[in-house]
Amino acid sequence: MQDTQTNTRADEDRYQLKTYAKWPLSLERGEGCYVFDSEGNRFLDLYGGHAVVVTGHCHPRIVRAIQEQAAQFIFYSNVVYNSVRSRAVRKLIECAGPPYYQVFLANSGSESNENAIKLARAITGRTEVISLEGSFHGRTYGSLSATGISKYSAYLNTPVPGHRIIAPQDAAAAVSDKTAALLVEPIQSLGGINVIPGHVLSEMSRACSEQGALLIFDEVQVGIGRTGRFLYSGINDVYPDIVTLAKGIASGFPASAMLVTEPVAAEVKSGDLGTTFGGGPLACACIEATLDFLQDEDVLGNVRRVSAYLKEALERLEIVEEVRGVGLLLGLRFSGPWASAKSVQKALMAKGVLTGTSDDPSILRLMPPLIIREEDIEGFIQILGAL
Ligand SMILES: Cc1ncc(COP(=O)(O)O)c(C=O)c1O
Repeated sequence: MQDTQTNTRADEDRYQLKTYAKWPLSLERGEGCYVFDSEGNRFLDLYGGHAVVVTGHCHPRIVRAIQEQAAQFIFYSNVVYNSVRSRAVRKLIECAGPPYYQVFLANSGSESNENAIKLARAITGRTEVISLEGSFHGRTYGSLSATGISKYSAYLNTPVPGHRIIAPQDAAAAVSDKTAALLVEPIQSLGGINVIPGHVLSEMSRACSEQGALLIFDEVQVGIGRTGRFLYSGINDVYPDIVTLAKGIASGFPASAMLVTEPVAAEVKSGDLGTTFGGGPLACACIEATLDFLQDEDVLGNVRRVSAYLKEALERLEIVEEVRGVGLLLGLRFSGPWASAKSVQKALMAKGVLTGTSDDPSILRLMPPLIIREEDIEGFIQILGAL
């Protein structure tokens, strides 16, 4: 077994471009909130495979949906109608609720953000796109130009013209009649779990309405139930014109979505947007199965319950200096010798718990599957308390 792991690492290191700082793990299996390496060691996955596996790893309902759809029809493009696609888009809009009216399906968070930016520029006839310091929107040209973490955006060399990165509290005032869109990640996850206050979101929304700019929420990470609401949109009565989703939308199968209101939808005509793979039958089967599961199992209720339990338990620990975030998207700051999140991450990994770091070196991120239970968390609290 040791040899298998060694070969796996050696081959990935040799043949895959070295763009990822990898953990020293070779994970081969997942079940619920747990993942297993090739030697059978078990890890509690509080990283959620990068905030993706909302229904847990390999839930039988998702596995069955993939198997059945794969046996029936893996792919055909949007040039034809297809029953599973029709059910997935209907369900997505029903889960989102008003004012969301129609959806464009794509493949990744970056691609959805790219389409949202493009749409806002086309509809308004303007080029300025304002986004916030501390936000992350993806790795494609437009989404990276909107990203407010310089560690990532510096690689661009020359950002797409028209992009401006502004501090969250100053963004509303920066919106003008030249602004096409204000793109907001309402809880800046990679930035270190910075929750943009509701009143700041309200000011942004008001400024966009007054100036005829579109408000876009990047809910790639916060959407699909992670905060205990299906969408973060609606918080403080702020309903953006466009919402982008990805990560958990298909339980790990690559898929993303851009939700738009009716006035925005009315501006879109045939040929304006497109993608080969977005909305393929297999992706749609995963979207449908994920959304059905969230509803049938009251997963949003579970997020709210477990989040309250987790926050309370964490706040009782001496080692924890601060807990921030909403639902199951939490950031932890530690005291004394554990001030570096990386050191905590490493110590937890050695004891069988996977967590994420962030762009803020002092913040450790928890973004577990949304099906996690109190009993899964108890062991983690004990381990953390004993560090
Ligand atoms: C908030 C947010 N937006 C966009 C993206 C980019 O998504 P993707 O990696 O699927 O392109 C991410 C990815 O981590 C994200 O967290």
